Amino acid sequence: MDLKKLFGYEGKTVVITGSASGMSKSATELLLELGAKVYAIDINKIDLPVTKAFQADMSKKEEIDKVIEELPEKIDALFLCHGIAAFPGKELLVQKVNFYSQKYMTEKLLDRISEHGSVTYISSVGGFGWQQVYNKAVELINLPTWEDAMEWYDKHPDLIKSAYVFAKQCLESYVTYKCMSPEFINKKIRINAINPGDTTTGLTEDFNKSTSPNGDVKEGEEMISNIFLKSWNGYPAEPKDMGYPMVVIGSDICSYMSGQLIYIDYGLTSSWTSLALLQANNKSIEELSAEANNK
Ligand SMILES: NC(=O)c1ccc[n+]([C@@H]2O[C@H](COP(=O)([O-])OP(=O)(O)OC[C@H]3O[C@@H](n4cnc5c(N)ncnc54)[C@H](O)[C@@H]3O)[C@@H](O)[C@H]2O)c1
Repeated sequence: MDLKKLFGYEGKTVVITGSASGMSKSATELLLELGAKVYAIDINKIDLPVTKAFQADMSKKEEIDKVIEELPEKIDALFLCHGIAAFPGKELLVQKVNFYSQKYMTEKLLDRISEHGSVTYISSVGGFGWQQVYNKAVELINLPTWEDAMEWYDKHPDLIKSAYVFAKQCLESYVTYKCMSPEFINKKIRINAINPGDTTTGLTEDFNKSTSPNGDVKEGEEMISNIFLKSWNGYPAEPKDMGYPMVVIGSDICSYMSGQLIYIDYGLTSSWTSLALLQANNKSIEELSAEANNK
């Protein structure tokens, strides 16, 4: 079997953001290896042999519009991967970079995406529990313009206070809400997100700094390890642990997969779900397995 054919990227047009570093860089490398024509966008310089690289700030509508003008008329797969950590005072910027620019770009490019094409995002385990804000997220998603959305954010400081979490929860709500909408389903365009766990990338230092209340990198590193790794004696992922599965999800291999939020976290969020369910039932793992064995 020809594996390149199985992926279906050979000669296809792919647009991907965030390619200068981390998960998206490793995804871009694989896409090139698989024969895709890659149009890559990042605020920083992209050091890969792509078909065309754009240096643009995706938090700015005018810069996104300019890039969109220069992108091809037909796109087979779109990957939206750019992201930043959250610092006090940067709440609106985080919404624009980590969610709104991604929604905006998707909708501006949707007409150009081919039948059976795909749109894939990088969300995060940070968006776990997105169901709690779903109704508010849908309200935001349904606003017609970028300017309306900025006004909405101004009126919801309580929601954007948890800046990183809320932006990723909006992204996960977006995938869930849009997968069966006519603009996607009429052309059988698939829409999915991966939700990575702790991964060593260009963002690691900023995540450490922003997690510590004192902005102390070492303290933040310890806190992140306690939340994401200690509970399962874990280890941080590498960029390709996320970038490669994302390329698979956007490919023909996953031709029937849509509307999915794929946690790539070595099972961590499933263990959170398990704990929450056990607590809700007021039962321990031992009690539940004893009940199952008595059946
Ligand atoms: N690293 C982790 O532990 C982790 C965990 C869960 C989710 N994520 C998410 O993964 C995605 C990829 O991040 P990464 O961890 O590979 O980090 P990274 O910093 O290595 O890559 C992010 C890329 O986004 C680009 N970018 C940032 N702001 C931009 C802007 N305004 N316009 C254009 N490009 C911009 C950066 O220049 C960088 O190349 C992000 O969305 C992040 O939120 C990361």
